[in-house]
Amino acid sequence: MLISSLHQQFQVSFSYPVHFTEGLFEADNLLLRQTLAPEPGGPPRRLFFALDSEVAAAHPHLTQQIADYCAAHADALQLSGPVLLVPGGEQCKNQPALVQQVLAATNDYHLDRHAYLAAIGGGAVLDMVGYAASVAHRGIRHVRIPTTVLSQNDSGIGVKNSVNAFGKKNYLGNFAPPFAVLNDYNFLLTLEDRDWRSGMAEAVKVSLLKDTAFFRFMQDNAAALAARAMPPMQHLVYRCAELHLQHIAGGDAFEQGSSRPLDFGHWSAHKLEQLSHYHLRHGEAVAIGIALDSVYAHMLGLLPAADLAAIIGLLQALGFDLYAPEMAAHLTEPSHPDSLLHGLQEFREHLGGQLTIMLLTGIGQGLEVHTIDEALMADAVQRLQQYSLVPAA
Ligand SMILES: NC(=O)c1ccc[n+]([C@@H]2O[C@H](COP(=O)([O-])OP(=O)(O)OC[C@H]3O[C@@H](n4cnc5c(N)ncnc54)[C@H](O)[C@@H]3O)[C@@H](O)[C@H]2O)c1
Ligand SMILES: [Zn+2]
Repeated sequence: MLISSLHQQFQVSFSYPVHFTEGLFEADNLLLRQTLAPEPGGPPRRLFFALDSEVAAAHPHLTQQIADYCAAHADALQLSGPVLLVPGGEQCKNQPALVQQVLAATNDYHLDRHAYLAAIGGGAVLDMVGYAASVAHRGIRHVRIPTTVLSQNDSGIGVKNSVNAFGKKNYLGNFAPPFAVLNDYNFLLTLEDRDWRSGMAEAVKVSLLKDTAFFRFMQDNAAALAARAMPPMQHLVYRCAELHLQHIAGGDAFEQGSSRPLDFGHWSAHKLEQLSHYHLRHGEAVAIGIALDSVYAHMLGLLPAADLAAIIGLLQALGFDLYAPEMAAHLTEPSHPDSLLHGLQEFREHLGGQLTIMLLTGIGQGLEVHTIDEALMADAVQRLQQYSLVPAA
């Protein structure tokens, strides 16, 4: 028998800027200073940096530049401790000791909720440091400074933080919007070719769901993008980030429903990353995932042949491989943990609720489905292998 009830309801509004710049730590670039914006006459903002080790290696003067920048702006910014190097790449999300190391730094350097924990690095380092920032004191202000295409146009601008656990991607994590995101295009200059390329998969993904003109832009500029031309890449990063931000603001920012449109191509991508022991980059796996679900949609009769050809052609022109040998293992045994198709079940479990997979009916047009014909998907994998043997003209 119910005796009594109380009802609680409130809303919390979030907002954060995503700024684009070049030369963030040059003394005359006021962006960082202005973003942290101390009140006039107030004490300087306390700031601590965690830095991706590969970024540090590619930018050997960066640590000194950060120190010089803070010294030049000592009235506004105060370093709370020495820059903490974090091993770059997916390995940092697989090692609980590294989360502990960042947390220990927050404790050692007395970072409170009004201090700023800035992370500079690829999506993996940002996910891991963001996770630590969000749990220390239940949330230290977190500034993201993404340094890869993928983190500048997708992973670093959103609201999610995570690390891997139990052999599963992003098993531990939370939704915690950053204080600010500062995208410095100059970092992209030192990326390896595969990291320059990999983030473009997310741009193709979001264009296929939301913006046909953006898809055409990438088609028109595919050769230049593959050859590392900066002007089209800057547009790609900006537009992709803009579309992601609009999507997050427009609906289910903290993913409480079953629908996850921006995870188009991702059920297989997450599984492939794991099956490849993370030798495949996230974006490389997403490119394969987009291609696979497009082939499947075509075989189902949803996606016209010309659209499928355009999608495969663009991904190939950008330089993506559209097949990985791990896809063949246990292909027709969806219950085998090493089968690609096991990824469908893992995807549903990660989201909770009903299996919901985004497919395409055309370029710029998505359609959610709740069942996947596993035999047909296995055929699609084999069809994709054929495509990968025939490079785009
Ligand atoms: N939080 C989210 O919403 C979200 C969304 C998508 C992806 N992700 C995650 O993002 C991660 C992938 O991020 P990524 O593609 O940036 O890969 P990454 O972080 O693994 O970086 C790739 C490599 O480039 C190095 N690197 C980074 N910046 C560099 C630079 N400027 N110059 C030279 N080397 C540099 C890194 O150390 C690493 O070795 C995955 O863990 C994925 O799960 C998160
Ligand atoms: Zn992704």
